[in-house]
Amino acid sequence: MVTLQDSNTATLINSSTQQLVNPTKDFMPINGTDYLELYVSNAKQAAHFYKSAFGFSSLAYRGLETGARETESYVVVQDKIRLVLTSPLKSGTDIGRHIDQHGDGVKVTALWVDDATYAYEEAVKRGAKSYMKPTREEDEHGHVVRSGIHTYGEVVHIFVERKNYNGIFLPGFEKWETSYNPPSVGLKYVDHMVGNVDLGRMDYWVKFYEEVMGFKQIMSFDDKDISTEYTALRSKVMSNGNGRIKFPINEPAPGLKKSQVDEYLEFYEGEGVQHIAVATDNIVETVTELRNRGIEFLQVPSTYYDVLQERVGKIDEDIDSLKELGILVDRDDEGYLLQIFTKTVQARPTMFFEIIQRKGATSFGKGNFKALFEAIEREQALRGTL
Ligand code: FE2
Repeated sequence: MVTLQDSNTATLINSSTQQLVNPTKDFMPINGTDYLELYVSNAKQAAHFYKSAFGFSSLAYRGLETGARETESYVVVQDKIRLVLTSPLKSGTDIGRHIDQHGDGVKVTALWVDDATYAYEEAVKRGAKSYMKPTREEDEHGHVVRSGIHTYGEVVHIFVERKNYNGIFLPGFEKWETSYNPPSVGLKYVDHMVGNVDLGRMDYWVKFYEEVMGFKQIMSFDDKDISTEYTALRSKVMSNGNGRIKFPINEPAPGLKKSQVDEYLEFYEGEGVQHIAVATDNIVETVTELRNRGIEFLQVPSTYYDVLQERVGKIDEDIDSLKELGILVDRDDEGYLLQIFTKTVQARPTMFFEIIQRKGATSFGKGNFKALFEAIEREQALRGTL
């Protein structure tokens, strides 16, 4: 592994504020993730799943009742995480075509900026392909400006400027009133979001994030770090200057059998978002609650815990509780982290979630890769896709 940590690349993150201790000046300042929009085949049922199983609450709605004739969107929220679930209301739409090709998946990673026109112009000037020119949308609560650029696969980044808006979500949406809002499971914010790209394309997208967005590479893993007997992948982690946006990018590496990235690319029929990592302040409570609500997680063998203490040293959590829940631990120079991965959450074996709690550590759990990939391979073997 290479950890880049020179004067230009601050990687120390204050664990309470999630901001870099020595932020570099960005030409494109990003305040955080604004929302993630998923194109799904049944937005109404997906919204119910994210509420009942993942602890989100109803926030906003746009559809027939609000005057939209072609698409329906449900917005759910948990602390700083907003998911928009969108389905077409008729055949022959681009969203329908997207779902036909990819299954359910992330279409939009929206980034909260102070000036969406400036962000767009800078990005396009530096080589980004335009998806949406700066567009002002307004209602009685003020106005927002949104603009957008393409990234890997069919994924897009939308810049959202909302400083002159105090509505529930965005113009066009109405408050989604419902009496059914299960309690939160303690998810706080998007920690990072990982993309899977085609073999040989990782460095292209690394360069894209460097040149177009001004991101820095803060870590890289090669196939020696991330390989098992059968499969391998490479990964580089891109971060913006204040550390609030972290995008690891994976590509498959040649192995004896098909890697998890190959499986993703085959079933997603293209490049796309592999996992969304969401942070919690208490992973034991969060995962206990998620399990109670039916979320399934990858399981590492119980032998993982036999040498855990030896590997990571003293930690605050009770190892038996971690073992019972299947939570993984890794340590880096700054501290340690706890993490766990769900099984894939839609019909196709594509996207999944990671639940992560950082206790000082700024890395991504390299020490767990082997155990984790072996767990993924066991799932692949069951699917006949290894
Ligand atoms: Fe991750």
